[in-house]
Amino acid sequence: MNNINKTYHVATYGCQMNEHESEKIEGMLNSLGCNKHDDIKTADIIVVNTCCIRESAEQKIISNIGFLKTYKRKNEELIIIVCGCLTQQKDLAKKIFGRFKFVDIIIGTQNLHMIPQYLLQKINDGKRTLSIADDELNVYENVPVNRYNKPFAFVNVMYGCDNYCTYCIVPYVRGNERSRTPEKILDDIHNLADQGYKEIMLLGQNVNSYGAGLDIDINFSQLLNKIKNISGIERIRFMTSHPKDLSEELIEVFKDKKAICNHIHLPVQAGSDRILKLMNRKYDKARYLSLVEQIRAVSPDIAITTDIIVGFPSETEEEFQETLDLVEKVQYDSAFTFMYSKRSGTKAAEMGCHISKEVKKERLARLLELQNAITANKNKAMEGKIVRVLVEGKREKTGQYFGKTECFKLVNFESEEDVVGKFVDLKVARALNNSLAGQLL
Ligand code: 5AD
Ligand code: SF4
Repeated sequence: MNNINKTYHVATYGCQMNEHESEKIEGMLNSLGCNKHDDIKTADIIVVNTCCIRESAEQKIISNIGFLKTYKRKNEELIIIVCGCLTQQKDLAKKIFGRFKFVDIIIGTQNLHMIPQYLLQKINDGKRTLSIADDELNVYENVPVNRYNKPFAFVNVMYGCDNYCTYCIVPYVRGNERSRTPEKILDDIHNLADQGYKEIMLLGQNVNSYGAGLDIDINFSQLLNKIKNISGIERIRFMTSHPKDLSEELIEVFKDKKAICNHIHLPVQAGSDRILKLMNRKYDKARYLSLVEQIRAVSPDIAITTDIIVGFPSETEEEFQETLDLVEKVQYDSAFTFMYSKRSGTKAAEMGCHISKEVKKERLARLLELQNAITANKNKAMEGKIVRVLVEGKREKTGQYFGKTECFKLVNFESEEDVVGKFVDLKVARALNNSLAGQLL
């Protein structure tokens, strides 16, 4: 057993998938005898776990990596590791490896489990490593996980994506879809329940197509029905659902009022049929609206959230207004809204008629204004209601506790007693723009 006894700091960018992968990186480093260190400036090892979904994020991360040179100047022994989606782009990874000589290890998304080996090679032989595997797609099993101090736990149900939405780089950097076996997933969740976890967030780029490619016949709703019977697990969430694969069987799962959270994240991306087609989303506006209707027929008070892109290549003002129209019709609880960002290698990057930054900005502002008003209204309607919250933490600045309702709404509240990690009942005293103020009952 190697014991390298160094401190590490992991800087994470991007989605929950990345956050969970950082938990695995930390787990691997802990098993080498390393210790987590909060201050990036004084850590012995810095790991940057990157994201490349939009160009702005990518550029910011590259400039932040460039800045690490100042730390290396002060401490020659410092080891810098860069991994994640950004580095799975081979040409970019090679460029960073050539230009940033102070980066010791660059590793892609498919060989994360090699971090300990490359780290030991660096320590023992001073060897720099650039390792971007693109011929093997991994399903990580038995990797130690250093779970962040949260009352809920992430569990991967699948990796990768086969959908090739024309704007999206994910299938290129995360590979094709691979599902984990139900045995492994259920094992993980039983273990988490034994450790006291009460809420599970199931992760996959498109959880609705879970099971495809496995030797046994199982789909996502069947998996959920197995998970909800695990004793101790009080809440199950999942992200992300692709509308094209949302089956009636899965919608029926929301009838369960015990463990399945009354919330679905259902990215629509755009409201115009022509744009949806260009995006390769495989549903149209009418189909999407009918799904929303079916979901609400099963669970009228369900929270629906979404992702929307404005300014996809060739999107006209009228087509953008169709997005506004759809947002008005659906009345989302909240939405993640993005300006289209050109990602080289994707089909949309090669399309004509890219929209100017000014127009994209202006459309985004109008969309935000509409969605904020809807969110505010929805929050207002919560005033006076009783909600159950799983408490995630205490804010240093205000001393308030915070947590989420089953519908994924953030609530802040005061408490004399330390209630972190517990479920509490709160009365919604006041609705704010993006959160609720609660009163402990
Ligand atoms: N530009 C803007 N937004 C994008 N997303 C994915 N790719 C792009 C892109 N090239 C958004 C989608 C997706 C979310 C995770 O990120 O809305 O659902
Ligand atoms: Fe990207 Fe589409 Fe896959 Fe989501 S479903 S990760 S948007 S390609």
